Amino acid sequence: AAVVEHTFNVGGMSISQLCMNSVIYTVNQQMPGPTIEVNEGDTLVVHVVNGSPYPVSVHWHGIFQLRSGWADGANMITQCPIQPSAKFTYAFNITGQEGTLWWHAHASMLRATIYGALIIKPRNGPRGYPFPKPYAEIPILLGEWWNKNVDDVEKDGLLTGLGPAMSDAFTINGFTGEQPSCRGAGAYQVEVESGKTYLLRIINAAVDSELFFKVAGHAFTVVAADASYTNPYPTDVIVIAPGQTVDALMTASAAPGRYLMAAHAFESKTAANPPPFDNTTATAVVRYKGVPDYAPAAMPALPAHTDVVTAGRFYWSMTGLVRRGDPVVPRNVDHSMVVAFGLDQVPCAPEQTKCQGFAVVASMNRYSFRFPDKVSLLEAFFRGVPNVYSEDFPGAPPPVPAPRKVTSVRKVNFNDVVEVVLQSQEYSSALGTENHPIHLHGFNFFVLAQGLGRFDASMKSKYNLVNPQVRNTIAVPAGGWAVIRFTADNPGMWFMHCHFDMHLPLGLAMVFEVLDGPAPNLLPPPPAGFPKCH
Ligand code: C2O
Repeated sequence: AAVVEHTFNVGGMSISQLCMNSVIYTVNQQMPGPTIEVNEGDTLVVHVVNGSPYPVSVHWHGIFQLRSGWADGANMITQCPIQPSAKFTYAFNITGQEGTLWWHAHASMLRATIYGALIIKPRNGPRGYPFPKPYAEIPILLGEWWNKNVDDVEKDGLLTGLGPAMSDAFTINGFTGEQPSCRGAGAYQVEVESGKTYLLRIINAAVDSELFFKVAGHAFTVVAADASYTNPYPTDVIVIAPGQTVDALMTASAAPGRYLMAAHAFESKTAANPPPFDNTTATAVVRYKGVPDYAPAAMPALPAHTDVVTAGRFYWSMTGLVRRGDPVVPRNVDHSMVVAFGLDQVPCAPEQTKCQGFAVVASMNRYSFRFPDKVSLLEAFFRGVPNVYSEDFPGAPPPVPAPRKVTSVRKVNFNDVVEVVLQSQEYSSALGTENHPIHLHGFNFFVLAQGLGRFDASMKSKYNLVNPQVRNTIAVPAGGWAVIRFTADNPGMWFMHCHFDMHLPLGLAMVFEVLDGPAPNLLPPPPAGFPKCH
């Protein structure tokens, strides 16, 4: 096993996008940022130097952080942010997982521009893949673009009480593609050779949108999702929620030419007055070797924005590939929880100076998560600092009329098995329900069942306990549900939240507090130079 070392210089970068020039904050002047490649078993060391005017932290999305919870990078959950002109070194081992993950800023909306791929190859390299070794691998990072400074977008969303405004475009590897009204913005292009098979490592780094993704004239075989192998799943369309990854094999078997890959939003809102949805489409080019750049390119037919059937088929049909030695679904459940979540209309707060009529809050079990402001939850947990959080996060939705703003966690013992029914719920007919991709830090979970409508106990007979999907982010459909199960085998404070960034400051989050093991001190003290809160 090797030590893989990177330096991340966070700083300003000029960019021209949609015919506008702006300054954004990125890592090493790149968007997407550098791709990190490791083999399973390696140690990753990343020196983050904050040359931006914003406090930042970097989250290694999907990494277990076994015994290294301090390096999880969730702002105010596991650390205080790295202040402007300060630096901090993240160091952790990557064991027991392989596939496509990613990293992103985990403070304010900076992750719109601060993100990149984190690729974990098997210990013995591509020989260890449970599918034929591809000719080449192509990371595809789907992103979302705002013409305005994203920190201002978020602050404005807090002042209006409605959350951040809609983005201006989607991107593929940083490019919007050839916008009809604004040529020259540029498109990502990849060259392929006839007959060869490529592994697309697709990451949805978009901030607030689930996406449909297709390549004209080509089909895929999905072999992994969220860095967990799946049984080969053939499809010509991929649906992917923010936080998720999909590894798909694609053979260049079409007539030599140019083909567009394209991504646009999947949204299944059920509101009385739904806000307009994002109908922009990002494109990129797949060009066969020898075909000229100016050859016309075919556009794939993406599903309609609200095509719940296509999305459901993709999300629900895949099964996990179970190999010898893989974790099996634990049968005895220690904590059986129902977590209902959704959006409410509430009166404007005095500090919401641009608020008109009502504000939006989000909650889980009627608790709207409030970030602590003086000390991170993990430090409070480790040092026993009182009055930072309470341990009363409900195990089922309580019958309280309005959501409460609290910093509340759910305490579980080391190695407890936790089952959560995630239920998307309507609390306001004006806001209705919408998709919510729920991400759990620190653990993979088994997805036992998923569906539309309300979960009821009869669904238990449908649980897949044999070869369920294993994920770190589950796309819960508007008004639908999913049942997840995981073993809390890592002490610390683990965030579970909606991976639509706009729902995070609104409170669609909770935290699992996993106590230390029977042999204490599985969680070591914080590393040297750990950021201090101001
Ligand atoms: Cu990828 Cu807490 O997030």
